[in-house]
Amino acid sequence: MSGQIIHNSVREHYGAIASSGGQAGCCDTTGLYNVTLLDGLPTQAVQLSLGCGDPVSIASLKPGDVVLDLGSGGGIDCLLAARQVGPGGYVIGVDMTPAMLDKARQNAASMGVQHVEFRHGQIEALPVADASIDVILSNCVINLSPDKPAVFAEALRVLKPGGRMCLSDIVTEGEFTPALRADLAKWAECVTGALDVQAYVGLIRAAGFEQITVVDKVDAETIVPRQPGMPRVFSARVTAFKPAP
Ligand SMILES: C[S@@+](CC[C@H](N)C(=O)[O-])C[C@H]1O[C@@H](n2cnc3c(N)ncnc32)[C@H](O)[C@@H]1O
Repeated sequence: MSGQIIHNSVREHYGAIASSGGQAGCCDTTGLYNVTLLDGLPTQAVQLSLGCGDPVSIASLKPGDVVLDLGSGGGIDCLLAARQVGPGGYVIGVDMTPAMLDKARQNAASMGVQHVEFRHGQIEALPVADASIDVILSNCVINLSPDKPAVFAEALRVLKPGGRMCLSDIVTEGEFTPALRADLAKWAECVTGALDVQAYVGLIRAAGFEQITVVDKVDAETIVPRQPGMPRVFSARVTAFKPAP
């Protein structure tokens, strides 16, 4: 299956979800965030939450940080990050689905935050300058990419030396069969594009990251219902650092 076909299918899937306001999301996102964190966020941003974890809570963001969210969707993690980095910081969300970008921009405008920007682009070729980012976040997106080595290479390129990546993503224990991998609908639903967790960590290391930690591995059966013939599926939180000079 070509990368182009996967991108088109994923874009179509998330375009439809954005247009439905999030009512047709692939994951059960209830309870992913501490409810107090969500106070004051636009309802539309919360309803369009399509993640499989809460990467902001492991990121330890500081006022002034420059943050990049890979696959920002309706913008929930960007808006949470924007509150933590304050007006002296900056948050960039990148997404390839125009309808998602529209929703995310509406959500930022309704919250009145000026230091958040949503850019159209693919996470395999980020529209972001070299060595310009302190912290990368991503929530349930990298599993959707047909070219994960390119995603991690791009993440390393845009991070400042010593910068870090804090990810929530779907991973597995074991591999999907080629037949399941070819199921485009399941790929777009954050299932069959997921990699074995060891292979996932191996790609991050091969890209040049260090101090890679799988912070936790939460059984994702409530998020991604288990099906016969599938490997065990997890939502993992992963952190990794770009080497300091
Ligand atoms: C499961 S949703 C998660 C959205 C958001 N991170 C959240 O937690 O609500 C996946 C998002 O990633 C975007 N996406 C998927 N693959 C992408 C890629 N290769 N490049 C850029 N965006 C991508 C989709 O358009 C969609 O908005």
